[in-house]
Amino acid sequence: MTTAIAHPNIALIKYWGKAPETGNVPASPSLSITLDGLSTTTTVMSAQADQLRINGELSDDVKVLRWLASLREHFSIPPIHIDTANNFPTGAGLASSASGFAALIVAINAHCQLGLATESCSGWARQGSGSAARSLFGGFATLKPPNWQASPLLDAKDWPLSIIIAITDTGRKAVSSSAGMERSRNTSPFYPAWIEQTKTMFHAALDAVQAHDFSALATLAERSTLNMHAVMLSSQPTLLYWNGTSIALMQRISALRDSGVPVFFTIDAGPQIKAVCLPEAADIVAKSLGEVAGVRQLVRTGLGAGARVVDA
Ligand code: DP6
Repeated sequence: MTTAIAHPNIALIKYWGKAPETGNVPASPSLSITLDGLSTTTTVMSAQADQLRINGELSDDVKVLRWLASLREHFSIPPIHIDTANNFPTGAGLASSASGFAALIVAINAHCQLGLATESCSGWARQGSGSAARSLFGGFATLKPPNWQASPLLDAKDWPLSIIIAITDTGRKAVSSSAGMERSRNTSPFYPAWIEQTKTMFHAALDAVQAHDFSALATLAERSTLNMHAVMLSSQPTLLYWNGTSIALMQRISALRDSGVPVFFTIDAGPQIKAVCLPEAADIVAKSLGEVAGVRQLVRTGLGAGARVVDA
């Protein structure tokens, strides 16, 4: 029996769209921060037949089962029980598939002695879910060509940031990221420009992180979020992941930054708002976001470590 833990990551330069080739290859590079407060814990044990449990319930999640089948084309993996649980809402735009596939490949790699290095684990996690590649590493990570395995960019301790997640709705999202991306690629007139601009913004964001330039990173991260949501909104049928509270929170965060508070927002395929700030601003930001009507819960966290085995 082997247990691994992984944390979700939040992209600051977003991935939204796949390249035409097989293997779940993104169409553009991305840059993320790995969180420490939220986690997925996954236990793998030898068994008579495969079984998957997600948050205690038996599951036949096709994404996981197909991924396991493709892993078995390369490695000899005996029947296993997989028991995976999140300490946060699943499928609500909090990156549960990222921490899920990262924890799963790390647990299987150790349990079945596949001998994969962290970068190779990242490549396998990416085949399950693009964003999962980045959860293999802590702190700041990138996912880029040519090999589309994530790389560490900066350690969590080298530039500590605080993240305040405002949960506005805990329901599952109506359209999954994979389906939404395909819809955007096929229907949004802005899609080609989005992909091209992301490549440029990715390089600018690398410089901002390396220089610890919060203000430059804030501008780039908010632009990446808003450009991605513009592509989502211009898809047909439209992909509107926000609710009224999401918009009120964006306005609140913009007002805070205008008044000198070092904070910016980032939003994925869901209605939750993630505020990223310098640690000294975390109390002010949390207090201010907590006052916005419709916020159900605030989760405060910092930057965390990459996926790892906790019990073998
Ligand atoms: C908006 O990694 O969930 O969070 O590869 O189809 O599983 P698949 O997509 P997924 O998409 C993440 C989209 C995003 C942006 C990001 O994390 O980069």
